[in-house]
Amino acid sequence: MPPTTDNGDSPSLPGTGKTVLVTGAAGYVATHCIVDLIGRGFDVVAFDNYSNSVRNQEDKALNKPEAILRIQRMTGKEIPFEEVDMRDPVELKKAIAKVGI
Ligand SMILES: NC(=O)c1ccc[n+]([C@@H]2O[C@H](COP(=O)([O-])OP(=O)(O)OC[C@H]3O[C@@H](n4cnc5c(N)ncnc54)[C@H](O)[C@@H]3O)[C@@H](O)[C@H]2O)c1
Repeated sequence: MPPTTDNGDSPSLPGTGKTVLVTGAAGYVATHCIVDLIGRGFDVVAFDNYSNSVRNQEDKALNKPEAILRIQRMTGKEIPFEEVDMRDPVELKKAIAKVGI
């Protein structure tokens, strides 16, 4: 969990300036890792292929998994997301280029 102040707000932590790519990002383990990474001042980029995660249903234009949108709401941090199968090297290369890491 990211640290909070006495009134429950997230303090503005100095960022590390480093970005971590999290794969399988909408899953159980990864979502906990993302919250922790953000709490430690890292930026996060998220990849997932929706094979075991849920698309946002309310606003399809958001085009992110429900779990990632929840973390954005919790932390106030934007998490760039790409739908990509990690086993597909061509699509993976495109996704990496797109998020600029
Ligand atoms: N304690 C609990 O409440 C609880 C709840 C859920 C799960 N678990 C445990 O956690 C473990 C599962 O968690 P997890 O995070 O490893 O799995 P997960 O299935 O939750 O997450 C895997 C994520 O990877 C994505 N994915 C799978 N293949 C991919 C691919 N080729 N390319 C891109 N994305 C891909 C899936 O869509 C999913 O979002 C199990 O041991 C389970 O028993 C515990």
